[in-house]
Amino acid sequence: MKNPFSYTTIVTGAAFCDRKTEIADLMNFIKNSQNVLIFSHRRYGKTSLIFNVFKKAQRQKPKIDTLHVDLYGTLSEREFISAVLSSLSQIESKIERLVNLIKNSLKNVKIGWSIDPVAGTPSSLSISFESGYDMTMLDSVMEMLHRLSEKRKLVVVFDEFQEIANYGQQGFEKRLRKNIQLHQNISYIFCGSQRHILSEIFNDKNRAFYRLAASYPLDKISTKDYLPWVSRLFAKKGAKLNPDIIKAVINRCENHPMYVQQFLYFLWDEDDFSVETLNQVEIKILQRHYHEFLNLWESLTINQKKTLKLILSTKGEEIFYAKAIQSVDLKAGSQVTRALEVLIRRNIVSKNKVYQIQDVMFEKWIQTFL
Ligand SMILES: Nc1ncnc2c1ncn2[C@@H]1O[C@H](COP(=O)(O)OP(=O)(O)OP(=O)(O)O)[C@@H](O)[C@H]1O
Ligand SMILES: [Mg+2]
Repeated sequence: MKNPFSYTTIVTGAAFCDRKTEIADLMNFIKNSQNVLIFSHRRYGKTSLIFNVFKKAQRQKPKIDTLHVDLYGTLSEREFISAVLSSLSQIESKIERLVNLIKNSLKNVKIGWSIDPVAGTPSSLSISFESGYDMTMLDSVMEMLHRLSEKRKLVVVFDEFQEIANYGQQGFEKRLRKNIQLHQNISYIFCGSQRHILSEIFNDKNRAFYRLAASYPLDKISTKDYLPWVSRLFAKKGAKLNPDIIKAVINRCENHPMYVQQFLYFLWDEDDFSVETLNQVEIKILQRHYHEFLNLWESLTINQKKTLKLILSTKGEEIFYAKAIQSVDLKAGSQVTRALEVLIRRNIVSKNKVYQIQDVMFEKWIQTFL
């Protein structure tokens, strides 16, 4: 029996757990052509949620068209446009029609593509601008989306939207906003994990995107929702997992969707579910992430490292007590404050009632290996 768990890809089907409320909420936004900003820490399942919402949207009567634009790694307005154009093969599977669609809106673009050998549809579309790029192109591309939405309701997802903060082009956000506001039959979903950058884009009165989208923070998955899902998948190989063991796994991962999935992926191959086995699986996860965590650790200054140790030794409470500060060889509270500023901005530390290392496995890694 194939391992039903997966922690490296977007999950759909049986590997996707619950999110019923979120899917219903997002479908509501989409049906009403509202714009939404979905944000969460990394690997909480934003993109997986989107793809599961897409499936539902496509099954509606009348059908809703869906477009997922991955902005990760885009550096400029030109690359933004290329990403939008490349995504069009998701709604137009006939290559001639796709090329016509693009050529009718934009002159002087060169389109390259390959054909997916299994599906027979165009894939990996590449776009180049023959006689350079000019700023009217953004309007043309957005107008094309508008025209598509006249036939059928459309949902456009800009994934990793924080990337636009790095584009240097004058007035990009303003020009994009102007277009988005004209599109009555499109729901735009902005998605990302860099909370500070997104918050600057959407919550600053002086920015063009101010209040353009409803905020939708995506939380972890609750234990109550995990329990039946895990039991069901383990039953496929005839294993009966005691709810206390499932809870123990979820607790060790602090409900983090990717880590829970990774833990269960490794546990699938085990014959017993004893505490020793759970310990071994946890160590395996820490080893798999060793280099990633080491790189992260090495990217920190000495005071930031000491501050993380301070959070660990105090459990995040009363970290400004002189005794606590001295225990990690820091000299003053101001050093802790400065370090925290960066650690919070980089999403390494979060503050609710207490300070916490955001990534539970990074925290365990520090405790185990340092
Ligand atoms: N609903 C879910 N049920 C079970 N596992 C999930 C679910 N959503 C996400 N996961 C797990 O989390 C992993 C990361 O999911 P996904 O890539 O969708 O997150 P993301 O928030 O888009 O991440 P990133 O911030 O890197 O873009 C998946 O590979 C899967 O293991
Ligand atoms: Mg994602």
